[in-house]
Formats: sequence, structure tokens, C-alpha cells
Amino acid sequence: MNYHDHFLAKPLITMELHTAVLLSVLVAGSLAGKCMDPRLTHPVKGKWSFPLPQEEENAVFYRLNYSLYIGGEEILHHFDFEDIKNYKNYTIKADTYRCEGKPHCKNYVTFVGQLSGKLTVCGTNAHNRAGCWAMNGKNFSKLTSSWTAQMAPQTPVTNHNILITGNQVYSTLPPRTNNGRSTMKILFRKISGHDPLLYTGDKLMRDPEFVKSLVVEKEDKMLSKIYLFFTEDNTETRTLEKRLPMVAQLCKEEQGSEKANTRYEFSTALKSRMICGNQLTGQYYPQLQDIYFLQGKTGNVIYGLFKNSWNHSAVCSYEVENIELLFNTSSLWGSSNTKLAIRPGTCLSSYTPEETSDEASKNPELNEWLWPSSKKTVFHNQEHYSKIVVDEITGLNDMIYRVLLLATDNGIVHKVVELEDGAFNALRIMPFKQNGKLLFMDLDPNTHILYMGTTREIARLPLDDCAAYNVSCTYCIQSRDPFCGWIGGKCESVLKHNRSTIQQNLEQNATCEYEKESSIMFLKSFRDSSTHKDMHATQYFLTCPTMSKHASYFWKNGDTEMEKCDPSDDICKLIINKVTSPGEYKCMAMEMETEHTVLQYKILESKNSAKVIECVWLLVLTIQLLILM
Ligand SMILES: *[C@@H]1O[C@H](CO)[C@@H](O)[C@H](O)[C@H]1NC(C)=O
Ligand SMILES: *[C@@H]1O[C@H](CO)[C@@H](O)[C@H](O)[C@H]1NC(C)=O
Ligand SMILES: *[C@@H]1O[C@H](CO)[C@@H](O)[C@H](O)[C@H]1NC(C)=O
Ligand SMILES: *[C@@H]1O[C@H](CO)[C@@H](O)[C@H](O)[C@H]1NC(C)=O
Ligand SMILES: *[C@@H]1O[C@H](CO)[C@@H](O)[C@H](O)[C@H]1NC(C)=O
Ligand SMILES: *[C@@H]1O[C@H](CO)[C@@H](O)[C@H](O)[C@H]1NC(C)=O
Ligand SMILES: *[C@@H]1O[C@H](CO)[C@@H](O)[C@H](O)[C@H]1NC(C)=O
Ligand SMILES: *[C@@H]1O[C@H](CO)[C@@H](O)[C@H](O)[C@H]1NC(C)=O
Repeated sequence: MNYHDHFLAKPLITMELHTAVLLSVLVAGSLAGKCMDPRLTHPVKGKWSFPLPQEEENAVFYRLNYSLYIGGEEILHHFDFEDIKNYKNYTIKADTYRCEGKPHCKNYVTFVGQLSGKLTVCGTNAHNRAGCWAMNGKNFSKLTSSWTAQMAPQTPVTNHNILITGNQVYSTLPPRTNNGRSTMKILFRKISGHDPLLYTGDKLMRDPEFVKSLVVEKEDKMLSKIYLFFTEDNTETRTLEKRLPMVAQLCKEEQGSEKANTRYEFSTALKSRMICGNQLTGQYYPQLQDIYFLQGKTGNVIYGLFKNSWNHSAVCSYEVENIELLFNTSSLWGSSNTKLAIRPGTCLSSYTPEETSDEASKNPELNEWLWPSSKKTVFHNQEHYSKIVVDEITGLNDMIYRVLLLATDNGIVHKVVELEDGAFNALRIMPFKQNGKLLFMDLDPNTHILYMGTTREIARLPLDDCAAYNVSCTYCIQSRDPFCGWIGGKCESVLKHNRSTIQQNLEQNATCEYEKESSIMFLKSFRDSSTHKDMHATQYFLTCPTMSKHASYFWKNGDTEMEKCDPSDDICKLIINKVTSPGEYKCMAMEMETEHTVLQYKILESKNSAKVIECVWLLVLTIQLLILM
């Protein structure tokens, strides 16, 4: 393996990094364990999904309360999850088609959202970028403002970013030139709202690819910030990567520079490189995939989803407070002017003084890099995730827990709980029935419902669904899912019950008091999932479901340990000779340093072997199958 492109080869600490790299191989070897994989898999596939009427390769999504608008090829779909039969659509065709023969020569909706209180869609309008339509009564009518050209790219695959906050609209799409083409540099511009309509300077971004933009509002409006997350070309000599993940910060209410010829440049825009990795092990994930902004109970946090060149993923978190502090304190890369009266990046209600804006414009990059909280990843594993959202919930112990929802390109979700002893991959969920590329994932934090969309389906997933753990008290509690607890013989949502009566295990030491109650349910669920068809003439196959991927399973005959099960198998089998091996066989699970019996079989002796198969078969299934748990 080659860890080469994962170093931060800062010349000064080369030696340290070499040591770190050696270490990282060892650590990667030992930590690439099963705890990073989902412990359980939700048994129901596609439980929450609905098909789109037609496949939409380039769909864009907008969620309004319980409904989703989906912009596609010359159409806007509307699904209301509260009344899914009440599906509607609106045709939104291009005005004229002058691009025949070229790909994407249609109106692809590229934006759906609220603009001035109206539902608005923008689209490619057959390569003719003047394209937004606003809902007017029951139909959409064309908007005529020239800036709406900057709301719509030429094709549905053009990378761009649009930010709407109140009445202010920002876009990275250049204005249309007279010949309809746009050859101008890619900048971030305010295109509508109160004056001045500022744009970023030439040096802020080098061939950027935008990942996300967002606003952090402050009580003092003057201090509100816009953050831009993008990747760009690495033209510096500090590290070897071709592209770098960056964060830019700008003051939302700034007025521009006092200098006449940079009057309309954002004078407060600075940027820093984002680092995601473990400083201790020297393992880094240089490619930014997605950003989520968590407005948490204890502060605002930016979550970044990154990957390395083997497509292994990592999640890092950055407190907004720390990002601000970095921009408040770091010197500028390449800047020699350290005696400025006003620091570059300072939010002012007046024009920025010329010497400050000049410095920011010439050297917009910070010397310091943005390191993640605790200088390590929140979570990493060998999956290739493409989207992240993060939810917060108060556990029964009154602690606040964060739950990461990580989705792969084909829409499989991993639910990962941030716990004191590390992140815990609790559950793998398959929300969709068909294969389709994941295009959208959004969380409603008030209802704890996740909304998702692929090219073929949409899904709504309640995060407090506990059905996957609804097997026994042990399964429920060991799930360590802060949304679920054991109450009245069921694993149920803690949001729907009085909290004091529920059992939960967010530390590692809770025990189940209702073991007996749980066994019947477990038996039922096991019988549903197990067919027992593979009986052999002279042998028995004893089977045991190995649901938890974090446990190790093995068989015991009386008190003697027998075979270990292969952890990758869904069912653990034990083959025994039915004539020579009567007795008790137990399937054991070892997890979180505790051992428990999953199933116990009793094999009876008999001389009439033909009958015994029948008899034991039945008995195994219904009577002699004792559950001790
Ligand atoms: C959506 O919900 C908000 C409050 O949560 C409400 O004010 C608004 O009217 C709702 N919009 C629609 C279209 O139902
Ligand atoms: C749009 O909706 C109408 C009425 O529900 C339906 O007949 C039609 O097939 C839909 N169009 C598309 C492209 O799905
Ligand atoms: C809306 O569109 C329909 C069908 O295209 C048309 O019949 C109707 O007149 C339109 N209504 C308005 C108010 O434009
Ligand atoms: C990583 O994922 C991308 C996109 O899915 C794919 O094109 C590429 O081949 C993958 N790289 C590796 C090393 O698996
Ligand atoms: C950054 O500086 C601004 C003003 O200079 C100040 O209001 C703010 O509190 C500072 N933020 C941090 C996190 O230090
Ligand atoms: C859990 O299982 C019990 C018994 O099988 C059932 O009554 C209950 O509805 C289930 N709860 C959930 C949340 O699936
Ligand atoms: C839940 O708790 C509240 C207040 O603690 C109480 O008034 C209510 O009766 C409880 N409900 C149930 C179903 O126990
Ligand atoms: C479980 O562990 C936590 C801390 O690790 C401790 O505070 C708590 O009292 C323990 N609970 C039980 C039931 O042992």
C-alpha cells in the first residue's frame, strides 16, 4: 500500500510524519475491524420508498415540510408523503430549442426552491440560460429579470452553487454575455438583494468545484458569515495533492473595499485548507464529498464527509466557533504585511480600508489549516459514502447524542452513533427497492425524519424506527441507538414514550431485566427468517442467525466450546451426526465483553431414524428449541 498522497508533507515535520505513517499501517491493520461495519442490517428493504413516474438522471429536490418537489426533464413532480396518492406534476418546457444535436437539449430543471415567497424552478432552457419560472396561481410563469440567467447553468451536469438567504441570492454562475456564452471566470457573486452586489476576487478560487455554501447568522447581523466549501487546484508547494478541500469565509453584510477599482469585490473573503484525518496515526482523507451544517443544542458544527484515493471514507467535525477563531487569528500565506490597522477578514459596517482589502485580495489563503475537532476523525471505515446528515437527540441519561446518517451512492444508509467510547455503527438500512444513484438526502430535525431521493425513487425514513432491534431486550439495548429503548417487552422509539420507564444502553453496562419476555419474540422472528430446508439424511444442520456483525458467534456442546462461526455468514451452521451426537447444543454470542446464549437445541436419541428426522425437525422448530438468551 502506498500512503504517499495522504501525507501532509509540511517540510518541517517530515520525520514525524514518517513515524506516523509507519504507525498508521499498523493501526489501520488492527482497527480495520468489524466495529466500523454496521452491527445489524434492517430486515426490510424498500419499506419507505415510492417510485418516480419516470427515471430522472439529473433530478433536483426541494423539501417543503412533508412534501418533496422533484425537478426533472421538462417536468416538476410533487409528492406529498402525508397523502402519497395525491401526486401532481407540472410541465416546464424550454422556450425554444436551438441546440439540436447537442446533448441535454431540453429544459432540465436544475433548481427548485422559494424565491420571494414563491415556489420557483430554474432550468437549462435548452442551453439558453435565461430560465426561471415562478408559481403563479396554478401554473408556472417565466421570470424576466436578467439575473435569473445566473440561477440556471447551461447543462444539468455543470457544477455550480446557489445560495438563497432571505431576499439575498448568490450564485457561482457567470452572467450571460451577448452571444449567450459565458466565458468569465468562476466567482461567487451576489446576484439579487440589497446593494452592493459584491463578487469574490480572482485569487480566491482556482478552478473550483462547489460542494456547499451556507450562512451562519449572528445576533449582531454585521457579524453573520457565509461559508463556501469547494475543492480547487493546488498551485502551492506546501503539499503534493492535485486538488485541495477548502473553506472560504466572508462577511455577509460587508460593503466592499474603499478602493475604487475593487469597490465591488468581497474584501473580507479568506480561505483555509480543510484537513480531515488522525494526526496521531498520520492517516488523512484529502477529498471532500459533502458537508452538513448541524445547528446543535451545544453549538453550530460543520460536519465534513471525506474520502481517500481508495474511496475509504471519514467524517470530521469542525466547530463553527473554531473556524471563526482560525480566521480571526491566522496570518495570511505569503503575506509580509503584518502591521495592518484592520485585520483582513474583519466584518465592518463601512468600506474596508484599502491596505486591508489589498492584502486579502492578494493573499486570501490562511497560513494555518483548519483541523478537525480533537485533530481526529469522528468516524472512518472502508465504505464509500457520498452524503451525510447529522441528527441530535437527548438520550434517556439526559446526554445529547449525535447520530450520523451516511449514505452510499446507491442509497444504502449507515446509522452511526457518536458515543463517548467512539463512534458506533449501529445499523445498515436499505430504503430503496431498485438500484438508482442517490441524488438527495435531507433531514427534518424537528420530526427526525430523513428524506432521500435517487434517480428512480424517493423515500422517507423515520430515524426512530426501532423495528430492526425489536427482537429481544438484549438486541434492543446492545443496539446503543439513542432513538430506541426497551419498554413493555418491545423495542420502541423513545420519542413516543414517557422517558423514565424505558431502558437504554448508551454507556456500555446496562443489563436486561426482561429476558424471559423477549424469548418468545425472538423465537418468532427466527422462525420467520429461517427455513431449515437443508436437512440431510444422516446429519443435522443446526443453524443460528448471526445478526450482529460486531459479535463473535460460536457453538457449545454442554460446556465444551466447539466451532466458531464465520462472521461474514448470515447464518451460523453446525453439522452434527444425528445418530452419534445426541445432547445439548448452544449457539453463543460474545459482544461488548459479555457472552450470552442465542439458541439452544436438544438432540434426542432414537432408533427409528426416519421418524426421528420428522420428530426432531418438528421438535427443533417448535418445542425443544429452548431460548435462554
Ligand atoms: C410548513 O411548515 C411551517 C411550519 O413548520 C408552516 O408555517 C408552513 O405553513 C408549512 N407550509 C406548508 C406549505 O404547509
Ligand atoms: C403527470 O400527471 C398526470 C396526472 O396525474 C399523469 O397522467 C401523467 O402521466 C404525469 N406525467 C408524467 C410524465 O409522469
Ligand atoms: C394553466 O395551464 C393550463 C394548461 O396548460 C391552461 O389551460 C390554463 O389556462 C393555464 N392557466 C393560467 C392561469 O395560465
Ligand atoms: C472510487 O469511486 C469512483 C467513483 O465511484 C470510481 O470511479 C473509482 O474507480 C473508485 N476508486 C477506487 C480506487 O476504487
Ligand atoms: C472573531 O473576531 C470578531 C471581531 O473581530 C469577534 O466578534 C468574534 O467573537 C471573534 N470570534 C472568535 C471565535 O474569536
Ligand atoms: C415490536 O414487536 C412487537 C411484538 O412482535 C410488536 O407488537 C411491535 O409493534 C413491534 N414494534 C415495532 C416498533 O416494530
Ligand atoms: C407521562 O408523563 C407525564 C408527566 O410526567 C404524565 O402526566 C403522563 O400521565 C405520563 N403518561 C403515561 C402514558 O404514562
Ligand atoms: C454504567 O457506567 C457509567 C459510567 O461508565 C456509570 O456512571 C453508571 O453508573 C453505570 N451504570 C450501571 C447500571 O452500572
